[in-house]
Amino acid sequence: MDGTRTPHVAPVLILLGPPGAGKGTQARMLEEKFGLVQLSTGDLLRAAVARGTPAGKEAKAVMEAGGLVSDEIVLTILNDRLKAPDCARGVVLDGFPRTTGQAEALDDLLAKAGQRINAAISLEVDDAKMVIRITGRFTCGGCGEGYHDTFKPTKTDGICDACGSQDMKRRADDNASTVMSRLDAYHEQTEPLIRYYDSKGALERINAMGEIDTIRREIARVVAPITA
Ligand code: AP5
Repeated sequence: MDGTRTPHVAPVLILLGPPGAGKGTQARMLEEKFGLVQLSTGDLLRAAVARGTPAGKEAKAVMEAGGLVSDEIVLTILNDRLKAPDCARGVVLDGFPRTTGQAEALDDLLAKAGQRINAAISLEVDDAKMVIRITGRFTCGGCGEGYHDTFKPTKTDGICDACGSQDMKRRADDNASTVMSRLDAYHEQTEPLIRYYDSKGALERINAMGEIDTIRREIARVVAPITA
């Protein structure tokens, strides 16, 4: 893709990749470095589950089993979030779209708003290494900063580097058996989107098996001209 965008139209980026590829880790970098808003459908769904909304109740069992929540629920939740004023700064979609139906719905939504996808960044990883990434993950309940037991530990045990909170959380679906179902769902239903975005000239492939900071620089190289 050419990395250009229409003036005054906010950038729309997509991060594609299987569970553990680093979508959340890198989306937070894009939020901090480029002022984009990270929109994680996984986080939005987990919030709906925690609040016990009708959508959350329906999503809970599907998420615990490692399957995909229905397009209808996901699109409703995402549409609501996109209406918030902060999204006018530009968004990085983390974990959305995940099906061809979601990708087509997003295209329609953006077309109506005079926008388009600037880049779909595919984080390319080795499945076999994803189980250790997922099972070692924990997140700060205070500010959302993500960590890993081995690859990104806190500087002081149990205390968030970013905000000092001691409220560390692990996800209910971050266990070895659910990860296998999530990887299967990715390959069956989400991986075809790589070809979908490639055919639109929007695909950027990034090798996401290296150090977090190396990948961060590679992604920043792609995004900088889009946000300039
Ligand atoms: P979601 O929350 O989106 O989870 P996921 O796609 O399974 O992805 P993860 O959050 O597990 O991984 P990530 O790529 O963000 O990796 P991270 O950066 O944290 O979805 C959860 C569920 O919600 C789905 O299963 C589904 O049920 C439902 N859902 C969500 N969206 C949906 C949609 N659109 N449609 C239908 N259903 C939907 O990194 C992982 C760990 O590895 C961290 O500890 C990190 O520190 C570490 N790490 C990251 N990069 C590296 C690196 N380069 N080297 C070493 N360690 C690294």
